[in-house]
This record gives sequence, structure tokens and C-alpha cells, in this order.
Amino acid sequence: MDTLKVGIIGTGRKKERPDRFGYAMAYEHANSYQAIENCEIVACADISEENAAAFAETYDVAQTFTDYRAMLDEARPDMVSICTWMHLHEPMVLDAVAAGVKAIHCEKPMADTWGGAKRMAEAAEKAGVQLTFNHQRRYGAPFMMAKRILDEGRIGELTRLECECGNIYDSGTHFMDMFSFFNGEQRAKWVLAQVDYRKENKVFGAHCENQQVVLTEYENGVFGLIMTGAGGASPVGCTDKLIGTEGVIELGVNKARAVRYRLAGEKEWTTPDTNGESIHGPGFIERAIADVVACLREGRKCQLDASNALIVTELIFGAYESSRRRGRVDFPLDIEDNPLAAMVESGDLQPAPANA
Ligand SMILES: NC(=O)c1ccc[n+]([C@@H]2O[C@H](COP(=O)([O-])OP(=O)(O)OC[C@H]3O[C@@H](n4cnc5c(N)ncnc54)[C@H](O)[C@@H]3O)[C@@H](O)[C@H]2O)c1
Repeated sequence: MDTLKVGIIGTGRKKERPDRFGYAMAYEHANSYQAIENCEIVACADISEENAAAFAETYDVAQTFTDYRAMLDEARPDMVSICTWMHLHEPMVLDAVAAGVKAIHCEKPMADTWGGAKRMAEAAEKAGVQLTFNHQRRYGAPFMMAKRILDEGRIGELTRLECECGNIYDSGTHFMDMFSFFNGEQRAKWVLAQVDYRKENKVFGAHCENQQVVLTEYENGVFGLIMTGAGGASPVGCTDKLIGTEGVIELGVNKARAVRYRLAGEKEWTTPDTNGESIHGPGFIERAIADVVACLREGRKCQLDASNALIVTELIFGAYESSRRRGRVDFPLDIEDNPLAAMVESGDLQPAPANA
């Protein structure tokens, strides 16, 4: 088996307490690559020389760059991980495709605009480059267990998916990607939503609403209900809920219980053992990246593929567009921008400063 040469873009700086200004996701990616046979991190790039040097020392990386384009030209990696903030995902993916890499694993959310997300997917497809996004929950034991219970028909036919999360863009991309996972990668038919954005809330540099209610219907008739930013309240009662004709599955009850289910007519919940894994991990990213590399080597389509990521990304920007239009948005989504950012720019939304 040939050695896979990996380059990392955006190393980050490892902090004791990660926050919305930096998680250093590159370290999670690097730990994952290191665990894969015949896989070597040959180069890393960060505009901060200090960040790149610290990363290179941690993982014994031979070449460091402050310009990722120089890294693509000189180190010629087979594959890159893109671990920068979302406004940089599109240009970096397009540059990596143009440089001739075989595979790109990019952090979520896909892009900062709907047009950008489509351009990335199109460019990769045209060039035959494997483009995947780090929606790692698909590899988490509680989520895989919930899907198995659903697929075995134990809660009957799926009718509705519900979730609650901080915002629809930064964290919501994980939650609604789980809707796709549970619902067989169905595309949505329409979305109807309302945002509240009264106080500036930037996560990894991007505007994210304070609160939102979103309803969508998928092509197979399953409904999705998303509640964001309820603070301490819990409108759904858990983080993810799968409602079937004959039962219910819940994940993240009281943020602690990983997964539980109750079949029609039963009073008690059944709480299966998830081997110590919560809805946050551990082990999700390692399994995700191992699968991404295995798919590349075996020529298989990965479930983290851009085509699946587009389904959730259309919902994110479609939900914001619904607020802008004050109405239901039917898909395919016919806009190019990020409607939330555009409404702030135009003055339609005027969030107070974050520190007010
Ligand atoms: N999958 C997950 O669960 C998860 C969790 C947290 C964050 N994320 C996502 O990961 C991405 C990165 O977030 P993070 O917290 O790791 O970021 P970070 O701030 O820790 O690291 C980003 C790095 O990119 C560097 N950078 C900026 N511009 C650059 C450029 N032009 N060229 C090269 N490097 C550049 C910065 O100097 C910084 O070191 C975001 O999209 C975020 O949403 C995903």
C-alpha cells in the first residue's frame, strides 16, 4: 500500500479550554491520520508561523509553511485537511482541487454562502477529487445505535425528526446532518423558519442567530423540526428525537443519557449501553477520518461526501432565506449568498453589539 501524504491547512493553537475562537481541530485530524496505516503528515500551513511550528513539533512534520498555496505547490500532498474558519473553506478547497490533490477533508460547516458550497462540490466532482466534510457524528455509537433501532423497524415508520442546538449554522450543521443520516439522505422539499437576532453572536467569525424555529418536509414526507438557541430551556426535551409510528428514540436527554427508546404501549424507556460514548464522543473523528481514507483507497463513496453535505447546507441557508422572504422557501434553493449575513449587512437585522 502506497504511503498517503497528508497536508494540514490551518493548524490552530492548542488551548486548555477550546472556545468559539479556536478549537484547533487540526490536532484532532492529525491524531486520526497518525492512527492510520501508511499515512504520513508531510506538511502543514498556518498564517501564524508560531502555530505551524508548534503543530509540526507535536506531530514531527517535516515541512511548515505560512502560505498554504506554497504548501500545495512544494509539498504536493495526496490529501489535505482544511481546518480553518468557514469563510476560508471555499477558496482553500478550490485551490486544493486546482493543485491536483486526490482528496480533501474539510471542517464543517461547508461554506459561508450557498453559492460557495455549490462551487466547491462542482469543482471537486469535475476534477474527480474526493471532497468530504467533518460531520463526524455519523460515526458515534449513540447515533449509529439509534439508526440501527430505526432501521430494524422497532419504532415503526419514521414520521418526524426533532433537534435542539445552539444555532442552525455552526452547531446545527451537525444536528441536521443527523437528520439526513437517519432519513436515508433524503433531500428537503421546502423549509419555513423564523430567526431572532437581537444580539451579535459570532462563532468562528460568522454571524449565527440567537434563536430560531425551523420546519422542513423531506421528499419522503418525513418532517424535521429544529429549535435553536433556547438557552437553558429544552423545547424538544433532548438533543435529537426520532418519532415513529410505533415508538420514539431520544438522544442527549439532560445532555447526559446518550440514547434511549420507548416502543408504543411501553411505560418504561430502554437505555442501551453505548460503551461509554456520549453524543460528543470520544472516537468519532478518528473513525470518520479512517473511513474517509479507506474510501479514497478503495474508491468507495464516503457518507461524508459533498453531495450529502449539500443537503444540510441547503437547509441552513434555506432557513435563513425563509426569514428574509418572510415565507416558505421551496427547494432547490435559488440564492447564492448567506441571507443572515446579508440581512445584517443591509441593516434589515440590527443585532446589538455582543458586549452591550
Ligand atoms: N467538527 C467539529 O466538531 C468541530 C468543532 C469545532 C470547530 N469545528 C470547525 O473547524 C473549523 C476550524 O475551527 P478551529 O476552532 O479548529 O479553528 P482555530 O482558530 O483553532 O484554527 C484555525 C487556524 O487557521 C489559521 N488560518 C487563518 N487563516 C489562514 C490562512 N489563510 N492560511 C492558513 N491558515 C490560516 C489560523 O491562524 C488558526 O491557527 C471551523 O470551520 C469550525 O466550525 C468543527
